[in-house]
Amino acid sequence: MTERRILVTSALPYANGHIHLGHLVEYLQTDIWVRFQKLRGNRCVYVCADDTHGTAVMISARKEGISEEELIGRMQKAHVDDFSGFDIEFDNYGSTHSPENRQLCAEFWKALRKAGLVIEKDVTQLFDPVAGTFLADRFVKGTCPFCKAPEQYGDSCDRCGHTYSPTDLIDPVSTLSGATPEVRSALHLFVQIEQLRSFLDQWTQSGDHLQPEVANYLKGHFLGEPLRDWDISRPAPYFGFEIPDSPGNYWYVWFDAPIGYMASTLQWCKRHGEQFDDWWKSDKTEIHHFIGKDITYFHTLFWPAMLKTAGYSLPKMVHIHGFLTVNGEKMSKSKGTFVRASTYLKRLDPSYLRYYYASKLTLRVEDLDMNLDEFVAKVNADMVGNVVNLASRTARFAEETGLAEAWPDDGGLFEQAARDGDAIADAYEACDYNRAMRLILAAGDRANQFVERAAPWNLKKDPSKANELRDACTIGLNLFRQLAVYLAPVLPKLARQTGELLNQPIRHWDESKRPLLGNPVSRFEHMMTRVRREQVDAMIDDTRDVAAPEAEKPAAQWMDGDEPLQAEPLAAQCTIDDFAKVDLRIARVVAAEEVPEAKKLLKLILSLGGEHRRTVFAGIKSAYKPEELVGRLVVCVANLAPRQMKFGMSEGMVVASGPGGSEIYLLSPDEGAKPGQRLH
Ligand code: 2FM
Ligand code: ZN
Repeated sequence: MTERRILVTSALPYANGHIHLGHLVEYLQTDIWVRFQKLRGNRCVYVCADDTHGTAVMISARKEGISEEELIGRMQKAHVDDFSGFDIEFDNYGSTHSPENRQLCAEFWKALRKAGLVIEKDVTQLFDPVAGTFLADRFVKGTCPFCKAPEQYGDSCDRCGHTYSPTDLIDPVSTLSGATPEVRSALHLFVQIEQLRSFLDQWTQSGDHLQPEVANYLKGHFLGEPLRDWDISRPAPYFGFEIPDSPGNYWYVWFDAPIGYMASTLQWCKRHGEQFDDWWKSDKTEIHHFIGKDITYFHTLFWPAMLKTAGYSLPKMVHIHGFLTVNGEKMSKSKGTFVRASTYLKRLDPSYLRYYYASKLTLRVEDLDMNLDEFVAKVNADMVGNVVNLASRTARFAEETGLAEAWPDDGGLFEQAARDGDAIADAYEACDYNRAMRLILAAGDRANQFVERAAPWNLKKDPSKANELRDACTIGLNLFRQLAVYLAPVLPKLARQTGELLNQPIRHWDESKRPLLGNPVSRFEHMMTRVRREQVDAMIDDTRDVAAPEAEKPAAQWMDGDEPLQAEPLAAQCTIDDFAKVDLRIARVVAAEEVPEAKKLLKLILSLGGEHRRTVFAGIKSAYKPEELVGRLVVCVANLAPRQMKFGMSEGMVVASGPGGSEIYLLSPDEGAKPGQRLH
């Protein structure tokens, strides 16, 4: 087969956050595919970069009082360290904030203008007059126009699920400065991608470039109606590249991000004396993008449209994967499952995750669940118990003699596993790593049965069986090496160790086809230790600690006991709707007097503001004197059904804690609260 030339990318991670286990699904999936291609002898280049532009980076930098450049520089270093910690090996790792990217953006822009695809329109948006910037949807909060839930983001309501425009929010507030935003309009530039409709229909539906479910999704969700013009500019201030022929306007981050794939390639070309057009304008090069399902739209509609217009090659394939869940749920900071790459690496070997993800990845767009019990069990059974076990049960008996000079009779085991190589390669090629791992493990099972029967540890005891022992170890170690070749894309470290053990580095897939004979065998060193559940638990605990804000962390000096909770365990769970039924309000005590006939009660007159008064009989006489109470603010249950008591009607309840007697504690709000305000 002739050598293929392949360019591979993973989505560019945002420069405003750390790499976590969710990201790693993609980078590991891609790295495995790239290593597979290289092992097969193909020319394969893997590029990536940090995605640096946009409002979020600008705001984070401002908050820290540093320049955007400093912030993205720091983040890039952290990302690069995380990736190398997981043996993810890029041929070039660039940045969208590079001169190469600026130059290529300008070239794309010219082409779009020339094709007559760019138009201008006024866009009305919320503007923060204090921060001096237009506000992206997630920088505005306010009351939902539909269900009136407070504290909702500018695009949709968490409570009722409605979507809306940020200008529809009631009492909107900028989360940047707390200011009330103004409605302002500004000129934006749009790309009319509907003009490329027939090309996009054909390209997305050809059956060659997208997984079938992705092609169907596009057809059902977007291609059935006119494609909306794409707003690709943002007015200043914005961290990005200013549009050369539209001063004061910047390319939106999603315009320059995919061009970043090319800019990173260009950097690689400069370093290696390669021609850029050989990689992006040649039908001899296959371009493969790996992305998550959330950014399908950008990569399967906008990006092909841009490439087509600018006269560059289109991707041969966009490989799309699902999200990561942990123990069947979304990753969660409070549950400690939102694990950063660096936190994982403090506790666990990267090979475990590389193998575990590989064993779960298929060619479908399904979410991948990381079940922590299964993670431990699978790594221990498949890697330590099956694969590495083969080497550890044979290598030390061959240290003195080395491998036999001639291939002994193995009953066809080596041949059979060599033939499996084609099916395993097909599975890798199709990104069906789950299938590849199953085939490899099946070969491992057969090899282990052989070693079990041959029992080198018994042969060793009988000096007359020295040849038999050498033959058995030669077979066992060669069957092991075959697996190490097949697993090399997933476990590069194991492949390296195997090379050292048998004094022959693994460089090519076809090394699985011929046994090694006559080689010396080095001292056996541990290749992979069993993973312990405690290591996983420690990682989860570390993550909880990082995620919990300072104030939430239990501090040593506050040794609060748990007697109150013991005395009164938590009530059954309720929903937010249950809670919303109870209308808690701030009230001021405007009058208070003893009720002579009642041992425990004080009669309070509460004001909810204006003329709104409530009479409440509260069981707090043992702890409060009436005169202490007048004037202070309390919390009252304002919609409690009135109750007729011996001394009059009680029209609510004041909220207090404590077991009773002198230990009763009324709740009062922080400074600034006003009577009548509701508690949410
Ligand atoms: O979704 C994301 O994390 C983006 N930063 C991906 C960009 S991919 C590409 F287009 F650059
Ligand atoms: Zn709502």
